[in-house]
This record gives sequence, structure tokens and C-alpha cells, in this order.
Amino acid sequence: MTDWRRPALQVSRSRVWKCRRINMPRAPSSSLELFTTDALLDPFPVYRKLRDLGPVVWLDAYGMFVLPRYAEVRGALENWEVFSSAGGVTMNDEMNEKLKGGLLCSDPPNHETLRKVIERPLTPKALSSLRERVTAEAEAIVEKVVAKGTFDVASELAPHLPVSIVSELVGLPEEGRERMLDWAPANFDCFGPINARTTAAFPVVGEMVHYAFTQCVPGKLKPGGWAQMIWDAADRGEIDPTICPFLMNDYMGPSLDTTIFATISAIWLFARHPAEWDIVRGNPALLPQAINEAIRIESPIQAFSRYVAKDHEMDGVRLPKGSRAILLFGSANRDERRWDDADHFQVNRRGTNEHLGFGFGEHQCVGNNLARMEIRALLSALTKRVKRFELLEMERGVNNVLRGIRKCVVSVH
Ligand code: HEM
Repeated sequence: MTDWRRPALQVSRSRVWKCRRINMPRAPSSSLELFTTDALLDPFPVYRKLRDLGPVVWLDAYGMFVLPRYAEVRGALENWEVFSSAGGVTMNDEMNEKLKGGLLCSDPPNHETLRKVIERPLTPKALSSLRERVTAEAEAIVEKVVAKGTFDVASELAPHLPVSIVSELVGLPEEGRERMLDWAPANFDCFGPINARTTAAFPVVGEMVHYAFTQCVPGKLKPGGWAQMIWDAADRGEIDPTICPFLMNDYMGPSLDTTIFATISAIWLFARHPAEWDIVRGNPALLPQAINEAIRIESPIQAFSRYVAKDHEMDGVRLPKGSRAILLFGSANRDERRWDDADHFQVNRRGTNEHLGFGFGEHQCVGNNLARMEIRALLSALTKRVKRFELLEMERGVNNVLRGIRKCVVSVH
């Protein structure tokens, strides 16, 4: 049975080591807050202030360091021996305890073993057999919404592929599947520090974990589906069977809202920048680059964290073992030290594939090829039918680590 209700550590690690920090070279400290509703709706002014303060900044509000610049975020993602995922990638101890041992919260060599199993259906080779079906589904749904003239990208277009095709491929039981769109964002709310959003999300994620433990088990899963393949790997002795329910979350949690938000953001950006839409309509081969640029500038996952597993020096500042550092993907992707005219959406931008929106290094998104395939299929179908998107209504969602739009009504011409 799930150990979801296992009591959390009583004392936050970050609070313990904060007391030890007194005689150390100090990082610039800041009282800026990242997780208020206002900051989540428009984080970019806060990010800029943090980047200007230095490559590593101490955040009083959370008792954690933050890395706001591109070079240091990328460096940390490559240096798992110091910036460990096994110590948890969320910003609160409760959730880190719950995710311990899964793919996201593991370091090599454990991580390599788990990743081999999870990535099997997601390699470019494995996905190539899906391309035709994804393209056909994308053409059909785009045909349908474009015929309406006015539609909500967020509810009528963007969720279609992740919810229909991907859920079916994962092969989860029908019962409970409809809750997936509530579970996925709640899962990401739990990646933030403890605040009202996190605590409200814990019981919802508890339901998802319960579903993984009770429904995502052999006999209830679709034979040949991705979830069943995890259990098959356990039968072959590749992984420990007790870890299987935790690995279900790797297909359920991160495959929905990330891709859905990236799709909506891309269309919203094209509605606001019609000249960029003209460029991709004129040359659809630019779509992969345009998708990278949309993910760079909007970064559906704005921040995860890492546990500092060894004393480490960065820019003359000591990050002590036991501290925690927030890696601000969304800020790194807007860092003016790395990107010219960083706040502008330019589909022709050079080097946009080096964005950190899918992470980097050991934990770089295992689903990125699938996400790119889905988004490209939809945008490609739109290039054939839409000259202009006119934005009629837009409302952002608020989530501790996700950035995205939950209502985006456009009319198309
Ligand atoms: C546009 C869509 C997506 C975005 C922006 C995104 C973003 C990310 C990021 C930033 C990471 C790195 C986490 C870290 O370094 O700690 C990650 C990892 C991961 N993603 Fe995605 N993701 C997307 C789509 C998907 C899809 C479609 C799937 C599943 C089918 C998926 C499954 C995963 C998994 C399992 C990991 C953990 C990999 C590991 O720890 O080795 N993601 N994703």
C-alpha cells in the first residue's frame, strides 16, 4: 500500500542549515518572493532583479538559494554530484519524501537504470511509428476547430493529443482517467514551497498516488501499453517491482499540462506576433525552431530545485552541503547575458535549441520528443489553414511551478 501518508520530516532541512550559515561568505540576499499570485502571473521583473543581484542569491522568504542566470542553471543541471536530484527536486520536504526513489528524484547509477525503462517508448525510433497517427489526429482536430471560426485553444485544441493518444498509449484503466487533468497541475503545485496552493494540492495528489497503487497494476493495465511495460521490466528483473507504482507518475504527471501549456503559449505568441506566424507559414521547416523559441520564452516548467549534496563554491559564495537551490529555468531562458533581446519572440533566433525549458543533462525531459511531435503536428496543421489568429480572451493559470494559459479564445482567418 502507498506510503503517501508517511509523516514528513519534522524540521525543514533548509531551516536547519540556515542557522549554520552565519559565518560563511554571503550570497546577496533578497526578500523578493517568487510564489505570490502576482509574481507567478508576471515573474519576469522579479527574475530580472534576481539576475542583476548575482549568479546565486539567498532568498529570505524560502530559506533557499536561487540560481537565476543561464550559465549557473545549466552548470548545476550538469553537476548532479553537487546538485543532487536524489535529495529531491521540489521545494518542500513532504513532497521530496514522497517522490524519493522515482526517476525524477534519483541520481546515477539508480537514475540510469530507471531511465532505460521509462524512455523505451519515448525514443525517436520508438516514436516514429506514432507519427502518422499523431498527424492524422492533429489534422482532424484542427479541421474541426478552424471550421468553427472561434474557439478556445486551451479547452478545445491543446489537450486533445495528450489526453486522447497519450493516455491511450500509456494504457491506464478508463476508471479515474478523467481526473488526470486535475491531478497533473496539482502534482506540480506540490513542487513549490509550502504555501496555500501546495497544501490544497496535497490531497489531490494523494488521490493520484492512490490511483497509481490500486489501478495501475497488472491485470488492470492495457497489455503492451507503456505502464504495463514498466511492470514487464520488473518481471525481467530490470527494476525493483516496489518502485513500479512510483514510476507510473512519470507518464501521468509530466505529460499533460507541460505539453498543453506549451501548445497554448505557442499559439498565443503567434497571435501576438503575426509577422512570426507569416515566417513559419512561409517555411514550415522552421516549426521545430519556433517550438523551441516558444518553450524558451514561456518555459512551461519555470523552476525545480536541487539538494546541495556537497559543499560547493559559486562566484566566491559557499553553498553548504544540506542547503537547497532553486533552479529558475524560466529566468535562465530570459537571461540577457545569454540571449540577445531575450524578451522577444523570434522564430529565427539562433541557438534557441539550447534553452533549458526541457532541462539539461541527466534529467533532461525524457518526453521531449513526444511533446515536440504533438506540438509540431498541431502547428503544422494550422499553418495550412490559418492566416491570422485574433486573440479575443486570455486568462493565465496560477501554479507554483507551471506557467501557462487556461483560457485562450481566438478567432481564425
Ligand atoms: C512541452 C512539454 C514538456 C516540458 C516543457 C517538460 C519539461 C521538463 C523538464 C524541465 C524536465 C527536467 C526536470 C529536472 O531537471 O529535474 C523534465 C523531465 C521529465 N519529463 Fe518532461 N516536459 C514536457 C513533456 C513531457 C512529456 C510529454 C513526458 C512524458 C511522456 C515527460 C516526462 C518527463 C519525465 C519522466 C521527466 C524526468 C526525467 C528524468 O528525471 O530523467 N515530459 N521535463
